[in-house]
Amino acid sequence: MLLSPFADEVAQIVADEGVEVVTTGAGNPGKYMELWKSKGIKVIPVVPSVAIAKRLERLGADALIAEGCESGGHIGEITTMALVPQVVDAVSIPVIAAGGIADGRGFAAALMLGAKGVQIGTRFLVATECNVHQSYKDKVLKATDIETAVTGRPTGHPVRALKNQLTRKFMQAEKAGATPEELEELGKGALYRAAIQGDSLNGSLLAGQIAGLVNKEQSAKEIIDEFMKELKEIVADRSKNIL
Ligand SMILES: Cc1cc2nc3c(=O)[nH]c(=O)nc-3n(C[C@H](O)[C@H](O)[C@H](O)COP(=O)(O)O)c2cc1C
Repeated sequence: MLLSPFADEVAQIVADEGVEVVTTGAGNPGKYMELWKSKGIKVIPVVPSVAIAKRLERLGADALIAEGCESGGHIGEITTMALVPQVVDAVSIPVIAAGGIADGRGFAAALMLGAKGVQIGTRFLVATECNVHQSYKDKVLKATDIETAVTGRPTGHPVRALKNQLTRKFMQAEKAGATPEELEELGKGALYRAAIQGDSLNGSLLAGQIAGLVNKEQSAKEIIDEFMKELKEIVADRSKNIL
């Protein structure tokens, strides 16, 4: 199951508690849009395709996060490079790019594609403030470019994580035609095992393809400062030499 069984209750609490901005992840937030918009909440859903982007704009989304399949976690099928400009052209609300962005170069590229901002996941996994287990962070810090795998395609819920014993077991089970129930059983508690218990063999180490570029632990402030410094340098440099 992708959506929490408590999704309806959570959506109602968000509406009742005066939350000002909501971003939604994998899954379609369409059924909550009317409620949230009626309370004046700004809603920024993650979208994996142009069709869903257009639908959510029609339903009142204030901005969209176009997330490419390079990302860690639940993903769609289209890369950031291909998805972002197509979503930008299809809607008139601001688009935020996500997936495969871990430094000022990625940020600059996203802006070139028409995004107004970026959402970053994998690089912040190793922020000092991030409380995932150190063994999870170490795996991200040591990962190379080809170290992620996607499982869950057969059940329609693809997830990208660092390769380990669990992803190998998943792939074998999927190949052998395991039922959705068997696969769900295999994945049960896997994020908890990785993030809290530090089981990097049998836990789900969600991370994106850009993990190979993430090789130092820093505070969130240092990460953001570095992003902005690199972005400014790139923009200043490229404006002189781009053609
Ligand atoms: C450990 C981890 C957990 C994530 N969990 C969620 C989630 O629960 N819901 C969601 O919409 N996106 C989730 N994401 C995706 C991020 O919000 C973000 O869009 C993505 O990581 C961006 O790509 P990047 O990992 O290449 O930076 C997760 C990503 C990671 C790495």
